[in-house]
Amino acid sequence: MKLCIIGSGYVGLVSGACFAEVGHNVICVDNNQAKVDMLLSGKIPIYEPGLEELIHKNVAAKRLHFTTSTEDGVDGSEAVFIAVPTPPQSDGSVDLSYIEKVAREIAVVLKAGEYRVIVDKSTVPVRTGEKVAETIRRYNKTGAEFDVVSNPEFLREGCAVPDLMKPDRIVIGGNSEKAIALMQKVYEPFMAPVLVTDINSAELIKHAANSFLALKISYINAVAQICEASGADVEKVADGIGSDKRIGRNFLNAGIGYGGSCFPKDIAAFIAISDDLGVPFTLLKEVEKINATQRERFLGKIRAALWVLQEKKIAVWGLTFKPDTDDVRSSVAVDVVRDLIAEGADVTVFDPKGMEKAAEHKLVEGAKYAASPLEAAQDAEALVIATEWRDFEAVDLEDLKKVMHTPLIFDGRNLLDPETVRAAGLTYTSIGRA
Ligand code: UDX
Ligand code: UDX
Repeated sequence: MKLCIIGSGYVGLVSGACFAEVGHNVICVDNNQAKVDMLLSGKIPIYEPGLEELIHKNVAAKRLHFTTSTEDGVDGSEAVFIAVPTPPQSDGSVDLSYIEKVAREIAVVLKAGEYRVIVDKSTVPVRTGEKVAETIRRYNKTGAEFDVVSNPEFLREGCAVPDLMKPDRIVIGGNSEKAIALMQKVYEPFMAPVLVTDINSAELIKHAANSFLALKISYINAVAQICEASGADVEKVADGIGSDKRIGRNFLNAGIGYGGSCFPKDIAAFIAISDDLGVPFTLLKEVEKINATQRERFLGKIRAALWVLQEKKIAVWGLTFKPDTDDVRSSVAVDVVRDLIAEGADVTVFDPKGMEKAAEHKLVEGAKYAASPLEAAQDAEALVIATEWRDFEAVDLEDLKKVMHTPLIFDGRNLLDPETVRAAGLTYTSIGRA
């Protein structure tokens, strides 16, 4: 099938590459000329494991194309996916201006006598599909035939390719049988369970799913606080409750809180959506509050140990919002670095993939960048682990102890094993365990 994706970011580009991989002919559109030029010259603008190989392979097979022209993209495509950003506004509600703009751009190039399915892949508030359809009808002067479908994306950064190639489920929300049949054909090669719903339910599933996952994280983080107060071990508690199939162990890792370009904005959006609908989802406000507390408590532990942070040489391992990505957007690790700098600490950071983007966007101004974990830790009076990269686990603890001024470790992601670290002669503090 010929498919078009508008917006070639984390979601659009990976989706496009995976659709091409299963045999579709895909054209990815992006209004950022530099990004399209980069893709056309064989460079990949984001780091995502497996993506580069997938793109090169499918470009060579002539199944994956890039353009800045919406008209070229929509021309001949049976389905047009919208994957542009839906950023938060200051009150937490969703900025839908990119979606609206793309709907107008699509509308003016739809031709009479051709049928198109317009698919919303971006995370949007419930009832956005109705608005997109209304906008296209208003701006299309040819009376072109189309349907709007919601097809939310559940990929996680860092494992986006396997998440897309082997999804737990595919959600297709639509109010037209013709559109749903076409979407089922798009997804047939993935051989995954397909859940067909009405459009509003599909839109709601995305916000409800992400909010539930964030709730799970805040739940275990609140339990971690109780573990700290009572001398219990949150890892053991998580294993104990997570081995109940009804609960599950995933997303029960305590830490300095969730971040990234999805959870913080999606939870805030769901709160705003529920407020708007007159049914305030107050539980989610508590989820946000616990998340913010985690970082504050962690900083409190560092302050308690170092007394004054001013002029203290602190190493921070990790800048990305999670491992296996170069994404530093809304990263708690970045916030921690900024907090330390604001208190006058002399911070040196290392991240395997996130330093370029952090420097480009000036996210941690005042921090120095190191070329390796050990270089960052050189002469440090404390080391903070803010992202759980496997690379950090591999660092030899004897070497680490040797290079540090004072071997104080604050592990915000429970990456290391307390006994092993202490046996190596380092002082270790983590989350929710003694
Ligand atoms: C996506 C979703 O679309 C968002 O709703 C979801 O909540 C998170 O994932 P993401 O892929 O992470 O966003 O965004 P980004 O990596 O910023 O990519 C968006 C792309 O769209 C960019 O390359 C940008 O240049 C492009 N874009 C933006 C357009 O092509 N046209 C526009 O009008 C606006
Ligand atoms: C999330 C959803 O998982 C995905 O389905 C959705 O489509 C997009 O948003 P992503 O933001 O890429 O994916 O990463 P995710 O793995 O969900 O992690 C989000 C944040 O939660 C990270 O900051 C991570 O460190 C944190 N987290 C995750 C925890 O603190 N504990 C956990 O147990 C799991």
